[in-house]
Amino acid sequence: MASREISQAVIRRLPRYYRYLGELLESGVERISSNELSKRMKVTASQIRQDLNNFGGFGQQGYGYNVKYLYTEIGKILGLNEKHKFVIIGAGNLGQALANYAAFENRGFVLKGLFDVNPRLAGLTIRGVEIRMMDELKDFVKENDIEIGVLTIPKTKAVEVANLLVDNGVKAIWNFAHTDLNLPDNIIVENVHLSESLMRLSYNITRYNEEHEGK
Ligand code: NAI
Repeated sequence: MASREISQAVIRRLPRYYRYLGELLESGVERISSNELSKRMKVTASQIRQDLNNFGGFGQQGYGYNVKYLYTEIGKILGLNEKHKFVIIGAGNLGQALANYAAFENRGFVLKGLFDVNPRLAGLTIRGVEIRMMDELKDFVKENDIEIGVLTIPKTKAVEVANLLVDNGVKAIWNFAHTDLNLPDNIIVENVHLSESLMRLSYNITRYNEEHEGK
């Protein structure tokens, strides 16, 4: 694990390096130069060198990066070599879709439980994981050492439920509810808003259309 602080901008880019290196590994590539990686990822070679130098630089001049080593090290930096137990709160459309996505487990994220307030969902299972009612949440989170809570509930309930999770030892929230949670600074929050991504897409479509109008 790198001891010094790595900027959030670099951290945001690491999952993409990890994905590319994973694909290279799968296709049997053992070494890659920053120039080659740059061509594939459409990021400048100097950006790649700068980013990877943050971790002491895994490359050797004129020899390229050892793909497997770099992949493993970035995985460690991202904490993917450890298991992270999580629960999903809100077993509706989105909660169930996330629960059905088996690939999270390949990255070390282990779904332990789903919680909801709708009694009609009680006892149903998604990929073998039971949907429980909210009155069981407190004890479940404590007993199972749950690290991450995923919020896929209406935004009006998000703050209350986030506080309940945090009060019972949850360290991080993956927040899909469209609201800011304002939790204590030691709690890690990652907000995911698909609609924001869609708005960026919309902006770029609009610009594209404007540029091509009348041509
Ligand atoms: P949904 O209505 O299918 O599911 C919500 C579930 O939460 C229901 O099963 C409901 O019974 C449960 N629920 C309500 N209050 C609760 C509480 N206090 N504790 C536990 N469970 C509770 O809705 P859907 O489509 O799954 O969306 C869920 C949330 O995610 C909504 O807030 C929606 O706006 C948001 N969303 C966010 C996206 C994003 O990119 N951030 C994308 C899609 C949805």
